[in-house]
Amino acid sequence: MKLNRIEKALMNNPVRSLVQRRHEARLLERLGGRVEGARVLEVGCGRGVGTEIIFERFGAGEVHAFDLDPDMVEKARRRLAHYPPHRLKLYVGDAAAIEEEGESFDAVFDFAIIHHVPEWERAVQEVARVLKPGGRFFFEEVTTHALDRWFYRTFLEHPTENRFSAAEFVAEVERQGISVAGNTTEWFFGDLVVGVGQREAAAELSLPL
Ligand SMILES: C[S@@+](CC[C@H](N)C(=O)[O-])C[C@H]1O[C@@H](n2cnc3c(N)ncnc32)[C@H](O)[C@@H]1O
Repeated sequence: MKLNRIEKALMNNPVRSLVQRRHEARLLERLGGRVEGARVLEVGCGRGVGTEIIFERFGAGEVHAFDLDPDMVEKARRRLAHYPPHRLKLYVGDAAAIEEEGESFDAVFDFAIIHHVPEWERAVQEVARVLKPGGRFFFEEVTTHALDRWFYRTFLEHPTENRFSAAEFVAEVERQGISVAGNTTEWFFGDLVVGVGQREAAAELSLPL
């Protein structure tokens, strides 16, 4: 689901960028390390700040990044115009049906987008599908604890059915063959869950939903 005008304004501003760079990236790096030279996918890249972080802070060699909203992809395209095509592919796409081959990425990054997907379990399943065995899933997600708040309900727009708590999100990630093993942290009073999991080498992915 695309962002409404208010959430777009909240996402596309320097404060969001600062939090993402200074806090979320630091936390993700502490939990999962860098991805030096790796082939990385970012789901829901928004205006491309996450992609920049994945290149600059995490050391990725190549990044594919997509977003459901063509307007966001265009913004990311402008921000990231200096990256050559062999290092960056940007496109419009859906996290619930990722247009990439199976087992083709060393890491997948999710900066707060899967809670926007109505069939969020499908998105987690897709992440597991495209990760190579041993590949890492870096996630920062917004839980039902946040979505139930007055501010979120009044001003922002999210799918209303079947949202997840931090524990439910991590359980689904593990059910799809990505081992998290407690490598998570919650912040902002449980509104956000941040963690890194690793796709099991011989993952027995669960059957399609
Ligand atoms: C809360 S914003 C986060 C954007 C960016 N990752 C960030 O951290 O600033 C959620 C993003 O997910 C995108 N989005 C929503 N549903 C999506 C889907 N099914 N597949 C891909 N992107 C989606 C939205 O268009 C939006 O850019």
